[in-house]
Amino acid sequence: MLKAVSRFRSTMGRCWYGSSGTRGKESSSGSELETATWGGSPSREATLYVHWPYCLRRCSYCNFNKYIPRGVSQTAMRACLERETETLLQLSQVSRITSVFFGGGTPSLAPPSTIAAVLETAARHTHLEGGAEVTLEVNPTPVGASTLRDFRLAGVNRFSIGVQSLHDEDLKVLGRDHSSEDAMRTLAEAQCLCPGRVSVDVIFGRPGQTVESWEMELEELLSVCDDHVSLYQLTLERGTHLFKQVQIGLLSTPGDGIMAQMYDSARRILGKQGFLQYEVSNFARQGAVSSHNINYWKGGQYLGVGPGAHGRFIPRQEGGVLREARIQTLEPDVWMKEVQHWGHGTRRKVSLSHLELLEEVLMMGLRLTEGVSHEHWRQFSPDADFQQVLGGSTEVQELQERGLLVLDDRGLRCSWEGLAVLDSLLPPLLLQLQMHSCQQGALG
Ligand SMILES: C[S@@+](CC[C@H](N)C(=O)[O-])C[C@H]1O[C@@H](n2cnc3c(N)ncnc32)[C@H](O)[C@@H]1O
Ligand code: SF4
Repeated sequence: MLKAVSRFRSTMGRCWYGSSGTRGKESSSGSELETATWGGSPSREATLYVHWPYCLRRCSYCNFNKYIPRGVSQTAMRACLERETETLLQLSQVSRITSVFFGGGTPSLAPPSTIAAVLETAARHTHLEGGAEVTLEVNPTPVGASTLRDFRLAGVNRFSIGVQSLHDEDLKVLGRDHSSEDAMRTLAEAQCLCPGRVSVDVIFGRPGQTVESWEMELEELLSVCDDHVSLYQLTLERGTHLFKQVQIGLLSTPGDGIMAQMYDSARRILGKQGFLQYEVSNFARQGAVSSHNINYWKGGQYLGVGPGAHGRFIPRQEGGVLREARIQTLEPDVWMKEVQHWGHGTRRKVSLSHLELLEEVLMMGLRLTEGVSHEHWRQFSPDADFQQVLGGSTEVQELQERGLLVLDDRGLRCSWEGLAVLDSLLPPLLLQLQMHSCQQGALG
């Protein structure tokens, strides 16, 4: 059976790309001048991701970069977020920020004045349009949270609420610190403040869950939610409490076949309720898509500020012409010291080769239901269209014949069935891309 696609974390654009600094040095043409034209836009635009690394407690399934705070200096944290934003804006020479996303951790635990300060910093150094999408991830916990109204006043205009489940017993298993009622209250408050701009996160494939109970739960959620839903298939992450519980047989999660059924029925239910799927895990009504996340899937530039944040941008101030993949130092106290000393806490950076950039464009773009258009591909690959790159592969042809992949005058995309097994479609596509790149290198 084909492996189901990973329906998790795709929205964050946080997955680290490339493990060695040497991979980034190769270039298909060797021309740095040409490199400056890759990347689609003239690249003075970017989105901004800000990571708030603290949570009140650890959910049993989560291995994100998060810490339980012990005596955090809010003043120092705020100053560091402002300083790193300033540094990365200067380094990238970005002149326009098109959206901002405060993720975590639990950014709804941050003082609203910190959120406002970061936005003001971005606005001081670049053009940040009044209507630019500014999202805040919100935990519906009743403890320690500022009111959503304060965040709204600080400049947030979109909320993403971590509902996860409507069943209180499941919320306990997941280690969440809120009830389903708390989530409903938060959702209603968010909808009053930002009608049409509230998203809910929900996890399926939870221990003991059946397809029928999932379908009923989703129907119930759709009857109260706003116009955006992100569906996450539970991933058992090594090192988490849940992983251990499953390993020792205390709990069990649904098998691959059931997970695939859950995904399939969710897509159908969402469709019936008017939600269009625009990405593997994301569904929107009334066009309420997340423009911030679309930028990741379309291979746009982004700056990542805060402990463990990821970024992709050209460091123009240093004379750079290649896009870099960057990750900031994970541990908040160490990150803060680095920012105080250097102005930023970048722990690792790798220049992406042309091939690596194309790999990202393909991997991210195929997560979108619209796939990668010819025009979009040409912006990154002016010398070789899809036919030239993929035409020689019998494996890719086979995927088309099996109805999983479509290559037509619109571009390259997954079919309905293909999107559900995207992870298994990518290896032959990436292999063919690499072979094409090697051939071009040999010819050049
Ligand atoms: C890391 S959280 C940050 C937002 C916020 N702290 C929250 O929990 O709602 C972002 C999303 O990732 C989901 N997530 C984290 N670990 C996951 C896992 N192992 N499997 C599926 N979803 C996961 C969370 O449930 C949440 O909806
Ligand atoms: S609140 Fe969110 S980030 Fe924090 S542990 Fe739970 S899922 Fe992870």
